[in-house]
Amino acid sequence: MDRKKDQLQTIRDYVFELFHNDATGHDYYHMERVARMAKTIAEKEGADSFICETAAWLHDIGDKKLFTNPEQARNEMDDILTKIEIDRNSIELIYEAIKDVSFSKGKTPATLAGEIVQDADRLDAIGAIGISRVFAYGGTKEQLIYHDENPENTSIQHFYDKLLKLKNLMNTPTAIKIAQERHAFMEAYLDQFFREWKD
Ligand code: NI
Repeated sequence: MDRKKDQLQTIRDYVFELFHNDATGHDYYHMERVARMAKTIAEKEGADSFICETAAWLHDIGDKKLFTNPEQARNEMDDILTKIEIDRNSIELIYEAIKDVSFSKGKTPATLAGEIVQDADRLDAIGAIGISRVFAYGGTKEQLIYHDENPENTSIQHFYDKLLKLKNLMNTPTAIKIAQERHAFMEAYLDQFFREWKD
């Protein structure tokens, strides 16, 4: 029990080191929220909460968008998990849970733990936090907030390309429920945005 707590603390410190300076919406607090949400969903859905929480902490490590050398980042992660003595079987379950998380891959994860980590990550992309993150990401990519005649590649367009679709892509009943409220908030936000845009 305590051992798992220590392992999670080491992982938390490691993730802080990697992501605390990120301004693209993939900062340490994104990882923390996803980890907390994955744990909550796992407890409600009867999955292994340690595997889900750990995988959630690590889910963005080795992402091509965020790492100049993804393979090196993944090797380093493997070294750390091995060093803190998470058994090989659990490490494989964690990797399995991480591997199909990404929206762009368009995959449904093969395991319940994978579904839960994907749900937790997607929940962090919608609602008030999701709205904040989309503009932070857009800013770092030098994207416009919105453009009347040419909305492609603007942050507002990203709601229609991705964020508004996520509600129907949740895997677990627990996440579906949480997604509904966050989705409704985004719709209200967009209504207000376009009202003010035209004022
Ligand atoms: Ni993420």
